[in-house]
Amino acid sequence: MTDQSSAVIGKPVSRVDGRAKVTGAATYAGEFRPDRLAHAAVVTSSIPAGRIRALFADAAEASPGVVLVATHHNAPRLPYNSMAQRPQVDPQAGDQLRVLQGPEIQFNGQPIAVVVAETLEQATHAAALVRVEYDPTPAVTRFEEAAKSPRKPGAGKPTDLARGDADAALAAAPVSVDATYDQPMEHHNAIEPHVTIAAWDGDRLTLWDKTQWVGNDRAEIAHVFGIPEENIRVVSPFVGGAFGSALRTWPHVTLAAMAAKMAGRPVKLELTRRQLFSAIGFRPRTVQRVALGAEADGRLTAVIHEAVGHTSQYEDYAETTVEPTAMLYSCRNLRTAYRLAPMNINSPCPMRAPGVITGVLALEMAMDELAEAAGIDPLELRLRNYAERDENKDLPWSSKGLRDCYRTAAERFGWSGRSAAPGSMRDGRELVGWGMATAVYPTHRAAASASVVIRDDGTAVVRSAASDMGPGTYTAMTQVAAEALDLPVERVRFELGDTDLPKAPVHGGSITMASVGSAVQAACVAARARMRALSNAVDPVRGADYAGILRRHGLPQVDVEADAAPGIEQKRFSMYAFGAIFAEVRVDPNLGTVRVPRLVGAYGSGRIINPKTARSQCVGGMVLGLGMALSEQSEWDDRFGKVMNANLAEYLVPVNADVPHLDVTFVDEHDPHVNPLGVKGLAEIAAVGVTPAIANAVHHATGIRFRSLPITPDKVL
Ligand code: MOS
Repeated sequence: MTDQSSAVIGKPVSRVDGRAKVTGAATYAGEFRPDRLAHAAVVTSSIPAGRIRALFADAAEASPGVVLVATHHNAPRLPYNSMAQRPQVDPQAGDQLRVLQGPEIQFNGQPIAVVVAETLEQATHAAALVRVEYDPTPAVTRFEEAAKSPRKPGAGKPTDLARGDADAALAAAPVSVDATYDQPMEHHNAIEPHVTIAAWDGDRLTLWDKTQWVGNDRAEIAHVFGIPEENIRVVSPFVGGAFGSALRTWPHVTLAAMAAKMAGRPVKLELTRRQLFSAIGFRPRTVQRVALGAEADGRLTAVIHEAVGHTSQYEDYAETTVEPTAMLYSCRNLRTAYRLAPMNINSPCPMRAPGVITGVLALEMAMDELAEAAGIDPLELRLRNYAERDENKDLPWSSKGLRDCYRTAAERFGWSGRSAAPGSMRDGRELVGWGMATAVYPTHRAAASASVVIRDDGTAVVRSAASDMGPGTYTAMTQVAAEALDLPVERVRFELGDTDLPKAPVHGGSITMASVGSAVQAACVAARARMRALSNAVDPVRGADYAGILRRHGLPQVDVEADAAPGIEQKRFSMYAFGAIFAEVRVDPNLGTVRVPRLVGAYGSGRIINPKTARSQCVGGMVLGLGMALSEQSEWDDRFGKVMNANLAEYLVPVNADVPHLDVTFVDEHDPHVNPLGVKGLAEIAAVGVTPAIANAVHHATGIRFRSLPITPDKVL
């Protein structure tokens, strides 16, 4: 970057798409209207395991407006070509559910028929007329039963880690804790449901889909249908929240394309709120044992972390749950294990900070228990075990602002005023508790491409097939481009969400700015160099001169495309974002209610492109952690193998009245190693650590350990 740059990186630019979103001008996947659009309703199984003995579609077919009923009897047999051949796919997606290919039932809520009709109401009504008879078989619906004989995840999945002799060190430790933590199944519950519109033109397919990765949709549907990727275009310019649920290409996308093919006209398939609890993934229930041993001064001598999460019958969905434990604190003796409990349930999937949020909450609750057992302040315990390098990868950190995070957040919170004894900070009849925890999330990056068009009116359009599920991709990329091009943000437009654009990786894992941002920067730097060459200038060319230069050359525009990919930095450095969270709770001992009047978070996440959208990200993450601590859980009924609170009335996400003042600070962190922009990504880190900080505060208020989440009034009383 030159010293003449317009320096828009780091400015709190308001969302460039904000006006379109609040005025309804933003078109979401389900709002496209191809001609002759028909509507689909999905019929799902009502048993968790077995076979369809008979399926009667005649009443549905005779219902007004019905175009067709697709079942395993009449649906085309799809090739489902080997997913291993896919060059660019969700790395977690092993095998997947094959829809309407046979009578087998593997979970309650499995799609077994699709009704297509002229209107949604006609389709929904006819779907209720489909009658099914089953031959049920025994189903594994109890987590505790499945967890008795868990299996190791398959090849390429997270493996066990070990150093030293953790079991012997634990047995010899002067201070130790050993506890089991239970985190329930959670569903994403974005406001926008999952929806796909499919339209065929001969053997060419257009999909308007709610997705965080148009490229994955194209690759996966190409393989499912056995057609070339070039025949498929996926369009997804706006996503109304996703949290990971739109990373994968779910079976309903296949159903929409299949139904459109059979109907010979475009079909829109929108899952109902209830179907969002079985047709897309979720955060798996995970039960974790954490055992910690320490010297009398609190220095860790042993760490053991064993986790079991559930998965489906057809896929080993595995998370990196125990991995952060291997690097977060300094300890010579460590052992981790991660196992899967297959059940008759649909496959889980990533949900904001997948695995990490789960593992860290167990570790950080255990650290709080150790602090109490050793009689040491919880923050002081973390500082005594501060890891000066990554002892898991045996690498130095690319940068680590965690000490700054602890200090900054502790000061802003007023942690030094904490009285150590549980139950000692009453306020009237309320019990007051203060708790804290560490947050961490890995910094990754993937290859990405971007293109730039500079026009003779002095504006630029920058493009990459990225996504914006809410974090502000449109805005932050516009800033990166504006700075590199030396143009004001108003003269730059960023476009995303279309497979016709240069390739971008998954919009997940907090990698978008590191990956697509680097490509945008590279393309814009190259475009500016092109302008400079055209101008014959010696000094760096100014953005204000672009129009004149192009007109002098009689050029309507110049086009530049660039690729950007990670180097070997992952081999040389361990790269993570870190944070520290402090929470205050108020517990009403008569009602068992827990309120959180304030949360303070400080984050070391490299360079902050836009402090306004960055803060917004952190606020969202904190609210997610608050929900995880106090209210969110999918209530699974063992008898039916089914989520019973499959709606927003009974699945309790925090509402405004639950959310306190949220204090967010970014500590200064200059990281020259992570990527050209020096960013570590923000999405996931902000969700991590909030839940254990709150749980630890509840213990401080009450003196009771609640190791089963969420901490609801019935447990507190
Ligand atoms: Mo997130 S779970 O990486 O969308």
